Amino acid sequence: MKMSGNTILITGGTSGIGFEFAEQLMKLGNTVIITGRDQARLDAAKKKLPTVHTIQSDAGDPKAIAALFETVVKQFPELNVLINNAGFMRRLNLHDQDVDLEDINREIETNLSGPIRMVKQFLSHLKMKESAAILNVSSGLAFVPLPISPVYCAAKAGIHSFTQSLRVQLKNTRVKVFELAPPLTATPLVDSFDPADLAGSKAMNVSVMVGAAIRGMEQDNFEIRPGQSNALKLMNRIAPKFIFSQLSKSADKMLSEMN
Ligand SMILES: NC(=O)c1ccc[n+]([C@@H]2O[C@H](COP(=O)([O-])OP(=O)(O)OC[C@H]3O[C@@H](n4cnc5c(N)ncnc54)[C@H](OP(=O)(O)O)[C@@H]3O)[C@@H](O)[C@H]2O)c1
Repeated sequence: MKMSGNTILITGGTSGIGFEFAEQLMKLGNTVIITGRDQARLDAAKKKLPTVHTIQSDAGDPKAIAALFETVVKQFPELNVLINNAGFMRRLNLHDQDVDLEDINREIETNLSGPIRMVKQFLSHLKMKESAAILNVSSGLAFVPLPISPVYCAAKAGIHSFTQSLRVQLKNTRVKVFELAPPLTATPLVDSFDPADLAGSKAMNVSVMVGAAIRGMEQDNFEIRPGQSNALKLMNRIAPKFIFSQLSKSADKMLSEMN
């Protein structure tokens, strides 16, 4: 995939991986539009990257996705790349009485239903382009769950599976389907976690991680697994019980603290 001269929509571009994608892709000569829920954070991103385009939109809300589509295709008819990046991760204790039935599903709405709906909404537009791509951001935790974040990992395993099916269903079109499975990456998302929750893994530098993702797209590497994500996938194949028990340690500790 040629990684210059594209018009690229990135959901969740106000911080972390999405913001870094915006910065690097603009340097390569692409037009970039970012979304986020918080107008103040979008304004702050625009201050740092004056040529980025910003649109307030909630990736977890189907009506907002339909409205985003109308705005984007009107203002940016050249749009040919969609990066489904918006997402969040929580430590969640399923025994906790305070988590209600709406709240329990929030990661599914944003991290899984969001990208699926974005793909459905933007697909017919992307199919008309001479060269087009969809990149879904999953996680190394799509391959092995971290039980302290059960709903997040279910959403990421789901987006991994959906992306595989999507790639098959789009094989006779000009739309390339990529998955980026980031390893633990130094962004605000991980700041809310105790390092012990994350199996003591060292976070990858965000600029290095996004650089690897863009190179992967350039080389048509359809499942991009930078750093420890590749090791996680491999370990899950050769020593699945061992790697799962390592990732279960923080949840074991959480359970022991309840008693
Ligand atoms: N950092 C890691 O270690 C890591 C590892 C694997 C995968 N990932 C994945 O990478 C993606 C980006 O994460 P990050 O680490 O860059 O986190 P981040 O720094 O917290 O950034 C998340 C971005 O998503 C936006 N966002 C969150 N919910 C949204 C919603 N409902 N609608 C629209 N925008 C929304 C946030 O903006 P607002 O809050 O203003 O809306 C923000 O711009 C996520 O899908 C995450 O699961 C991260």
